[in-house]
Amino acid sequence: MLVIVTKDYEEMSKVAAKKVAALIRKKPNCVLGLATGSTPLGLYRELIRLHKEEGLDFSKVTTFNLDEYVGLPPEHPQSYHYFMWENFFKHINIDRRFVFIPHGMADDIEEHCRWYEEQIAKAGGIDLQILGIGANGHIAFNEPGSSLGSRTRIKTLTEQTRKDNARFFGSIDQVPKYAITMGIGTIMDAREILLLASGKAKAHAIKITVEGPITAMVPATIVQMHPRATIIADEEAASELSGKYEG
Ligand code: GLP
Repeated sequence: MLVIVTKDYEEMSKVAAKKVAALIRKKPNCVLGLATGSTPLGLYRELIRLHKEEGLDFSKVTTFNLDEYVGLPPEHPQSYHYFMWENFFKHINIDRRFVFIPHGMADDIEEHCRWYEEQIAKAGGIDLQILGIGANGHIAFNEPGSSLGSRTRIKTLTEQTRKDNARFFGSIDQVPKYAITMGIGTIMDAREILLLASGKAKAHAIKITVEGPITAMVPATIVQMHPRATIIADEEAASELSGKYEG
């Protein structure tokens, strides 16, 4: 696992964008796994800039998002559908038919999760998966205790995650209790993983992810097992690491 420590959030976003852009240039029809949350926003901003100023072409790119809240329709301002279109997709030349995000209003969630896995397989698998990290070490909505081999499914959100996300909803009561999420096994099938972390609030999660033992109680620790995983953390997020890492 490669750990890159950057000066700040801006630099973290730029280093990540460079990697994503290099892949798109090398393989224009690549498959990207995308994340929501505040962490990847800078990456998306930089990719939008590269599209507008340098003609980075997304027309053949396929994307799969990690997760979505159950019960929120795509037009709900806190849905991850809305987030992705507002913050990224509507600013680039992505083909709508190649965008996949789990559907929070699916009638048969189990069937939908199976279908989602099938679409990933049909697309040839994910080339590069972008990840954020929860303060408790969760990835996507795989909360502590999630099976390390899990596939796309419905998960109950922990109190901590609902608290962390309450800032977007106004109050914790409005945060959905369930989400559809790619499983840890699904994430680990990606050919490459890029995990981003910024700020003091993530310092402990990054320390145990990089230097702790692999455990389902900290789902992000599984990334240690991935043959091509990079963590890009800014100085604050890396502040509890005891090892020396690439600057
Ligand atoms: C949510 C998302 C995760 C994300 C996490 C951290 O729980 N499901 O994919 O990594 O939030 O979000 P932020 O980047 O806003 O700290």
